[in-house]
Amino acid sequence: MHTPQSTSFIDLTADEPLSNTSGNAHFSDLLATRISRRRLLGGGGALAAALTIPGLLSACSTRPMPAQSGLLGFDAIPALALDTITVPAGYTTQTLLPWGTPLLPGAATFKADASNTAAEQAQQIGSHHDGMHFFPIDFAAGGNSSTEGLLVMNHEYCDPDLLHTGGAQGLPRPLAQVEKELAAHGISVAHIRLDNNGQWQLVSGSRFNRRITGSTVMEMAGPLRGHASMKTLFSPDGSAARGTLNNCSMGVTPWGTYLTCEENWSDCFINRDAVIPRSQYRYGIRADNSKYHWHTAQPQADISQRFDATATADSAAQDYRNEPHQFGWIVEIDPFNPASTPRKHTAMGRFAHEGIIFHPAVEGQPLVAYSGDDSRFEYIYKFVSREPYFRASAGSHLLEQGTLYVAVFHDDGRGEWRALDIHNAEFQQRAAGAGVTFADQADVLLNTRLAADVAGATKMDRPEWGAVHPHTGEVYFTLTNNDKRRADQTDAANPRAHNQYGHIIRWREQGAPQAQNFEWDVFWFGGPAGTAQPQHQTLATTASEIACPDGLRFDADGRLWIQTDISNSSALLGSPEFGHNGMYAADPHSGELRRFLSGPNGCEVTGVVSTPDQTTLFVNIQHPGEGSTPTHFTSQWPDGGKTRPRSATVAIRRINGGKIGA
Ligand code: FEO
Ligand code: CA
Repeated sequence: MHTPQSTSFIDLTADEPLSNTSGNAHFSDLLATRISRRRLLGGGGALAAALTIPGLLSACSTRPMPAQSGLLGFDAIPALALDTITVPAGYTTQTLLPWGTPLLPGAATFKADASNTAAEQAQQIGSHHDGMHFFPIDFAAGGNSSTEGLLVMNHEYCDPDLLHTGGAQGLPRPLAQVEKELAAHGISVAHIRLDNNGQWQLVSGSRFNRRITGSTVMEMAGPLRGHASMKTLFSPDGSAARGTLNNCSMGVTPWGTYLTCEENWSDCFINRDAVIPRSQYRYGIRADNSKYHWHTAQPQADISQRFDATATADSAAQDYRNEPHQFGWIVEIDPFNPASTPRKHTAMGRFAHEGIIFHPAVEGQPLVAYSGDDSRFEYIYKFVSREPYFRASAGSHLLEQGTLYVAVFHDDGRGEWRALDIHNAEFQQRAAGAGVTFADQADVLLNTRLAADVAGATKMDRPEWGAVHPHTGEVYFTLTNNDKRRADQTDAANPRAHNQYGHIIRWREQGAPQAQNFEWDVFWFGGPAGTAQPQHQTLATTASEIACPDGLRFDADGRLWIQTDISNSSALLGSPEFGHNGMYAADPHSGELRRFLSGPNGCEVTGVVSTPDQTTLFVNIQHPGEGSTPTHFTSQWPDGGKTRPRSATVAIRRINGGKIGA
């Protein structure tokens, strides 16, 4: 998410404070080591990345175009700057479930002037659609319906200037606006069905339709449940929480639940204490770094005051000093049980979770999943369940105990996972060496970023989505950009200073997925046509120039779908070679990459999932019209005319009924 705001007291464009001040090695510390690397062909990461002049690589007998593998069966579209969705010839699109769509029984219709109340918003589809998944309606029976299912999606944030008639009212914030903003966040579960005309329809009145918001009651699970650091006025025993916020990407468990990931939650809070605890400061919480100023709401209310974490009472159970500890988790939701209470899983670590991606479960083996911490210079993590997976007994308990690891990318193409485990001798030694103490494993998890600092993790260029290749088990991760990385801070895995284009890294575990060592290389360097792709011995073309990769998903055939988020604050926004944000498909084996979709004005393209038969691909269009003011809309997508822009889902189908992308 990256949003501009015209309203002076709300600044959603502000970067979070750079909070990783650890001394973990940058490449400058490793100058004595060799730069050339076995896995980065043709000169090595830092050198190859600098080669954006076609002639240089041509001279090295690099072929200008990748081989045709047959995995990609569509004609690339050009870079475009239209206020509409464009897909290749032979494809159609349908817009569904825009922000404000009535979802629950009796829900109010969407009012074009945005005058729906908070209570009405809580029964409608939320705003700023992000990660999502399609659960076949017959999942529990082992089925794989591609014509009916539950579409579950995140609503990452809201733009107060578009959410309210006349925009955001300023300080102190009116409680009614704050309540509506909380209601626009969260998750929607929408029961949808394909009709005889090939159009997806919401099943109105379905018992599965559900909204979860920034105020929904949740339970804590795992090592932090009941911990002293979780006690609040709302939950004096530290077992419950209210709401999930800034849900970016997601994951899906083998037992059919949805995992939603809390990303940029920290700037919903302030803390005016003289000393802000490390469990908040290391996450960017400051005295004056609130994006929505919810804590100022008048009249005062418990639901909004909790965003001020300043200690005001004699004990933690009497104020909200610990409220920020209830965010930064992965939250499990059972879409097939509308009465279920969402569970915040603390064993999987606390940070700015972009998403969570599982290796396919193997009977009798532990579950393995990855999650990136999307902030500049943060890390990539891996969770390995303590208990083995068995289909017959699999469930939420598998996520409550396990080992959290953090990635170290060595400059020679090897990598290792280092355990963040207070009982691990190496971790103990590193913590002692750093002069850092943890009271217990719950304290380690509460302070995941600090624990990873201690472990010597590699500082990455904003880890976003991950995806596991369905055939090879290779793991791909987008590193969307990092314009703050200096030349003396580059390393082999993040080889470009002022990395405005981003890249996609990949690794292969050495042995089983739970292995502690891996080999890695860079799958793709973002950049304009001519950018060297040393791993494929080729160059980016006008069809494959890409910037700021973010959303990522493999389909069952091994096609890699890549979505982009060039932010409004990027100098690349509006440049003709990249056009609007969009979606690309890649063949990981051949290195082919082609632009498939271009989005409307000001949007980010995110959220990607297909039906099991791959004949519908759902994507989300987030924040069309970014940069709008309350009186001037820079996009009219999707409703046209003079309407305000609305985030929405797009269902892509082929005219011939075939697989998308094939
Ligand atoms: Fe919410 Fe990292 O994008
Ligand atoms: Ca994202």
